[in-house]
Amino acid sequence: MTRTGATRQHPAEPSPGVSSIRPFRRLWTALSVSGLGQWLSVPALTAMAAVLTRDEDAAARAQAVGGVLVALLLPAVLLPPLAGLVAARLDRRLTLLIADALRVVIIVTVPLVDALPWTIAAAFLVACVTVVWATVATAAPPALVPEDLRPAARRSTARAVYGPAPVAALLFAVVALVADGTFGVGDRADLALYVTSALFLASTAAVAALGEVPGTEPITVRAPLKVLFQGPGSGHAAPSGHAAASAPGVSGARKAGNPAARGLGLAITGGALAVAAVVAVARVYTGQLGGGDAGYGAVLTGLTAGLGFGLFLGPRILGPFSRRRLLGLAVIAAALALVVVSLVQNLVVVAFVTAFLGVAAGAAWSTATAALTAPDAPDKPDDDRPVAFLRSVALVTALIVFAAVPPLTGVIGSRRLDLGGGAYDFDGTGATLLIAGLLALLAGLVAFRRLDDRHGIPLVADLRAALQGRVYTPPEPAGPEDRVVARRERGVFIAFEGGEGAGKTTQARLAAIWLRDHGYDVITTHEPGATKIGMRLRAMLLDRDTTGLSDRAETLLYAADRADHVANVVRPAMERGGIVVSDRYIDSSLAYQGFGRQQPVDDIARVNAWATGGLVPDLTVLLEIPPHAGLGRLSAPADRIESEPREFHERVHAGFRALAETDPDRYLVLDASRPQSELSREIQYRIREILPDPIPAGTEDVTSTFPIITD
Ligand code: TYD
Repeated sequence: MTRTGATRQHPAEPSPGVSSIRPFRRLWTALSVSGLGQWLSVPALTAMAAVLTRDEDAAARAQAVGGVLVALLLPAVLLPPLAGLVAARLDRRLTLLIADALRVVIIVTVPLVDALPWTIAAAFLVACVTVVWATVATAAPPALVPEDLRPAARRSTARAVYGPAPVAALLFAVVALVADGTFGVGDRADLALYVTSALFLASTAAVAALGEVPGTEPITVRAPLKVLFQGPGSGHAAPSGHAAASAPGVSGARKAGNPAARGLGLAITGGALAVAAVVAVARVYTGQLGGGDAGYGAVLTGLTAGLGFGLFLGPRILGPFSRRRLLGLAVIAAALALVVVSLVQNLVVVAFVTAFLGVAAGAAWSTATAALTAPDAPDKPDDDRPVAFLRSVALVTALIVFAAVPPLTGVIGSRRLDLGGGAYDFDGTGATLLIAGLLALLAGLVAFRRLDDRHGIPLVADLRAALQGRVYTPPEPAGPEDRVVARRERGVFIAFEGGEGAGKTTQARLAAIWLRDHGYDVITTHEPGATKIGMRLRAMLLDRDTTGLSDRAETLLYAADRADHVANVVRPAMERGGIVVSDRYIDSSLAYQGFGRQQPVDDIARVNAWATGGLVPDLTVLLEIPPHAGLGRLSAPADRIESEPREFHERVHAGFRALAETDPDRYLVLDASRPQSELSREIQYRIREILPDPIPAGTEDVTSTFPIITD
């Protein structure tokens, strides 16, 4: 650890804040100035491209702007691994210094050369330098603070690097206004470019005045394309070791092959598509709406400030509302905003609606990243794989949009639609935005469906309850007058799963009582130990005197118990059309023997599939509780499994969640700390969806099929 001039606080005292550490503060300031220059270079270079093509048609201008945008983004997609290599070899302060100085020179030559090819080439070079700069910039400042302040330092550094975007957009608008009054039309972009250069120069000087920047904080780079193909993984859910790699849930998520991962990826694609489409056409579109560079600056300010606000807002709004639903809704809102932007040809409206689009997209981003990070996940810099995946999705989407929008604008061209009474002038830019908006909407809708973790719960009621600060729980279903009987060839199988002390047994019992009250034939059962043989196996498995049992033997004993359970209890009950409610089933083995014992989960799944003849529950209710809280609820002396160390139970907990994420349609995941009555009602509501078709009680007399009630 690198000690700095800062005095270390007692751990119990509140953190003094990283900004009180002088070397950190100075570096942070230098980086913010450089960050401001970097963000200002985006509108400045695109505006330059537009100025250089001002005598050409909208399509040619869009092409020029698109060329600059692609040049600015391409290195961020392709170069990070190379940048990581370079950054790791060079002194950090020197790297920052050289990066700033290089950008001064490149940017200043753009107005001097005054040609489109060089503007695009300069954008590419600046972006290459920026990738190296950003790699070092995010790793340098945290090394200047004591270890306990590093997470705060990392967050603060990210704000220095990404935070200046709205300020840069506003600065660009102001510079454009000044240039307009002072220099006349053609020079506007020149002034913005000179200001950009001056900012890089100022930050070069600031970095030169700094002391040593230690290289202790590791540099983490991820190759966006590689991350994209690997999928999001499951940062919090994946324990280390081979078990993680071979878990069906986790490996499925890694390949982005499961519905939840695909839903998240799709949501981010939709959000990024909406934002990138606005950026791609903003310069040309605002020009068409009579706004010029100041209007362009205003739209970008609205977008970036909106994004920042949305990032802040995401985790804070509608606390009781499902985060997955919120994510889908945010993307849909961003897409609808884009549709409005494409149709309403008024600059002021466009600026405001774009700001709203930014808020929605920002909220979508923070919700999606939060969904991939466990609340209790350690703040480790190398634990950001799932977020890196989303970042790659966003980057690649934006790159494709930047490349595709200009040609599309050209192909569509300007047309006049005769609508009987009047004509609607319809041009390539607006039409392209409309197409992008509709595509984003489609992505948002599909993502919403895939991510929805409250199937069957009406959205409006759910939202209304969340606005009042509560979780919507559906009303008590059906009274005795409309009792139903089960009429189905094959019964229904419901499993309750969860870690220790989650309250499964109670909830399974309550669900069974409720089902019986409604006239169903219900069989409550549990694992391990529901049969005679099972009871003997259970004694072996849970007795603390059983020492030295190998992990594989333990797995097979649980599977043996399950085989006997399915053959003698579950299947016979299902064959007569009953509803089986089981306290634990295969997922317990996957979570405990797989994730907990760090054995290959795929193998355990295979053994169990064979043992049970492939019987999968119709619904698995997962009650989630953090292990420390759950273990604290237990009253009886701990058995052999309960007395495993805390890390074991943490892995089990993460394992259950990973399993649920692979198949959201089959799972109902509930926070077990919620009141028992709320949990029961949600469970009942979900169970209703999978029950056999209800038959009114009166029918019983006609068919004389009375429900069998079994305990
Ligand atoms: P049990 O007393 O039934 O407690 P609980 O209320 O937690 O279900 O104990 C079952 C224990 O066995 C529990 O600690 C989990 C463990 N277990 C496995 O490790 N693998 C399995 O396949 C099953 C069914 C249970």
